[in-house]
Amino acid sequence: MQLHRLEKIWLIFGVSMLFLFLIVLGVSTFVMGMEPPNSHQLESFDPAKVSETAPFNEPVLKKIGENEYEAVMVAYAFGYSPDKLEVPAGSTVHFKVTSSDVVHGFEIPGTNANMMVVPGEVNHVSHQFDEPGEYLIICNEYCGTAHEFMSTTIVVN
Ligand code: CUA
Repeated sequence: MQLHRLEKIWLIFGVSMLFLFLIVLGVSTFVMGMEPPNSHQLESFDPAKVSETAPFNEPVLKKIGENEYEAVMVAYAFGYSPDKLEVPAGSTVHFKVTSSDVVHGFEIPGTNANMMVVPGEVNHVSHQFDEPGEYLIICNEYCGTAHEFMSTTIVVN
């Protein structure tokens, strides 16, 4: 039996779309597979390898501009590393925090800085410290027996 001409066209169209779809899928999978791991910003990694994953292998507070600091920190049960930070008044600190074990919190009471620290992820929060004083950074996610003692201080002077 001969197919109606229109049916034939649709059949060819349908089969072509299917192939096109498979090609697009194959190509994008291939391209994604080829992408070197450092071509995009590090946003997720193996939490068991925090101590060997830059920048978290070296937790540090560093000056990145006038009145601007970056704090690379690791939260762990039960503390934060580096454990004491000090910046001049008027500084904006960009916190970049990960956890080497479980989910922790990162809250600076009296400010808007409040986030969850998820292992395997880079968690960001920024705050401008205008008033001199001692600011507490506390964990507000229950993380184990010493959860309530998990804190550190940022000194603004
Ligand atoms: Cu860390 Cu609670």
